[in-house]
Amino acid sequence: MNTSSPNLNLYQNDETFDLQFSSRIQKLSKIHWSPLNIIKVAATFLAPQPGSKIIDIGSGAGKFCIAAAHYCPEAEFYGIEQRKNLYHISQRLKKISGLSNVHFTHGDFTEINLKDYNGIYFFNSFAENLSSYGRIDNSIQYSPSLYNYYANYLYKILEEKPIGTRLVTYHVDENEIPTSYRLTGSGFDQKLKLLIKH
Ligand SMILES: C[S@@+](CC[C@H](N)C(=O)[O-])C[C@H]1O[C@@H](n2cnc3c(N)ncnc32)[C@H](O)[C@@H]1O
Repeated sequence: MNTSSPNLNLYQNDETFDLQFSSRIQKLSKIHWSPLNIIKVAATFLAPQPGSKIIDIGSGAGKFCIAAAHYCPEAEFYGIEQRKNLYHISQRLKKISGLSNVHFTHGDFTEINLKDYNGIYFFNSFAENLSSYGRIDNSIQYSPSLYNYYANYLYKILEEKPIGTRLVTYHVDENEIPTSYRLTGSGFDQKLKLLIKH
């Protein structure tokens, strides 16, 4: 639910939405933040009924959660982000948006209880451990072993989720996801995948 009148113009296109960010964060958008057309499809799939609770694993500057909360006002969107500066940016965006169905936490996703959510959004958040191309910054340690640790942790969590759990991946290889998740749709050159646990 919204607490104040939303500025609908913000959601017209990515350029307009991204103007809310500093120029450094805007420059990262093409590689690291989900585009609005992806967010709209993903959020609609992840929130099939009012009250759905969705977590964005690695919420960055908050773009997915904020836009998703705008498109699906009956659902609650949660973001967990390891970088404190990005967490602060997402909190600022939340304030500007006037949305009350979006929530951000600072921390590592392995530290929170993922049992509470019936939908998960995952934009290949651990990839920066494998490739130095276009990294967000140098504020954290990167390593292939950290990638494996996070990827295995998430795989196990996904395996333990109940039947019916909805998952959307963006730029994620299918062998990173347990086979119990069935593909129900894909698009944007197969980069976006809509899955349901069976
Ligand atoms: C590709 S960005 C996606 C941002 C956002 N989900 C979006 O779509 O706009 C991935 C984010 O995941 C964060 N991240 C990576 N590993 C993480 C971890 N273990 N715990 C929490 N956040 C993490 C990174 O800091 C980065 O901000």
